[in-house]
Amino acid sequence: MSRPAALVALLLVFALAAPAWADRPLPAPRQEGGMGVFEALKKRSSAAGGDFSPAELSQEELSNLLWAASGLNRGQTGWTVPMAHGRPPYCRVYVADKDGVFLYDWASHSLKEIRSGNIKGDIGAQSFVKKAAAILIFVADGQALAEFGAAGEELSHVAAGAMTQNVYLAAAALGLGARYIRSIRQEAVISALSLPKGDTPICLMLLGK
Ligand SMILES: Cc1cc2nc3c(=O)[nH]c(=O)nc-3n(C[C@H](O)[C@H](O)[C@H](O)COP(=O)(O)O)c2cc1C
Repeated sequence: MSRPAALVALLLVFALAAPAWADRPLPAPRQEGGMGVFEALKKRSSAAGGDFSPAELSQEELSNLLWAASGLNRGQTGWTVPMAHGRPPYCRVYVADKDGVFLYDWASHSLKEIRSGNIKGDIGAQSFVKKAAAILIFVADGQALAEFGAAGEELSHVAAGAMTQNVYLAAAALGLGARYIRSIRQEAVISALSLPKGDTPICLMLLGK
């Protein structure tokens, strides 16, 4: 076999062996109308753990919830949550559903599949966690936070708090259930998401109907 042909054959083997992760485009998020913020504040609450039905979220609902968590709302450098020094979101949001795990890419408002398989039953300390249709996983981005030194941990928690409260309010406005979960299986999340050293899972947000 000639060298170019061998190279093509090798590339083909790698292409076929690589996992066929499918990225998931999201519909444009709703940015006007809907329930007013004061009504949403009045309705915000945590869904009881056992209350999630098996019903899936629609892509529109997921799109709105993720945009509320850390979507762009002003050009290319303004987000629905405040970030220290106006830095890009240093807390990443993953979505785990029955099919796999996806990373929310706020720049393109889309989901990048990072693995297949249902991990919902593996990542929370409480058994009802797996009942949520979708679970948002908030992860401190160690690399992005390095510039803040020792303050990085605090900043990541402030960010996760703001993001999850936005999700609570968006869920209330959409008539969906949401619940903040701090009792996570840290090592299981790190392993399931293949997180690099320095990244820290902070909390989960259960979502469902
Ligand atoms: C920092 C924090 C950690 C929490 N961790 C958990 C948790 O691990 N498991 C759980 O079921 N609920 C958890 N919750 C949800 C609270 O139990 C819930 O917010 C609280 O009961 C008040 O209810 P409300 O959100 O409806 O006002 C947590 C909430 C917060 C703010």
